Amino acid sequence: MPAHSVITIDGPAASGKSSVARILAQRLGYTYVNTGNMYRAMTWAVLETGVDPADADAVQKAAAGVALESPVSEGQTQVCVNGRLLTVEDLNSDPVNRGVSLVARVPEVRARLVADQRALAAIGPLVMEGRDIGSVVFPESPLKFYIDASEEVRAARRRAQGHADQVAERDRLDSTRKTSPLVIPEGAVVIDNSHLTLEGAVDAVMAHLK
Ligand code: DC
Repeated sequence: MPAHSVITIDGPAASGKSSVARILAQRLGYTYVNTGNMYRAMTWAVLETGVDPADADAVQKAAAGVALESPVSEGQTQVCVNGRLLTVEDLNSDPVNRGVSLVARVPEVRARLVADQRALAAIGPLVMEGRDIGSVVFPESPLKFYIDASEEVRAARRRAQGHADQVAERDRLDSTRKTSPLVIPEGAVVIDNSHLTLEGAVDAVMAHLK
């Protein structure tokens, strides 16, 4: 078991899980960990070396030389690459959006970030959000959630975000990769977020915690 409670939240892109995880962490006073940002930071760093994200061998070699840290600030983790704190713009740039699922499918990258994610449980209770948190990172946690939304609603959210095709392609890659694909973790409570408000979805999670 981890040193402290870890509430795991998994689900596809545009399901609303990040907002739910952030607000839940605030309500509980837990640290919010967005693991997607760790994969995004690694992708940013790999792109800086000029490597093609589709070249898994080159990604593995480049990633091995990257120093990645996740300091906690104001109740959530940040990401630093080689001592530089990355901004929201760095983490969500078009090249990072295009490359992140390719970098995230490299087993060595995953092994390293999973170890970093497990180590975060030493700092205190966490709400950790991603694709494999309940299935791989903390499979023994008794507090697992999977937040989904209908294809229609997710497509509408994607359109509102202005990058429909990219997100659909990321979902395809994330669900079909060999190493820890997106799945509903064993024992997870599935919450359909298609017709809930943000507060409603957080309440639904809280109801299961009691
Ligand atoms: O949560 P996000 O959409 O920002 O995540 C970006 C990408 O990172 C996602 O498309 C797949 C990868 N990812 C992953 O493979 N495992 C995680 N636990 C979190 C994210």
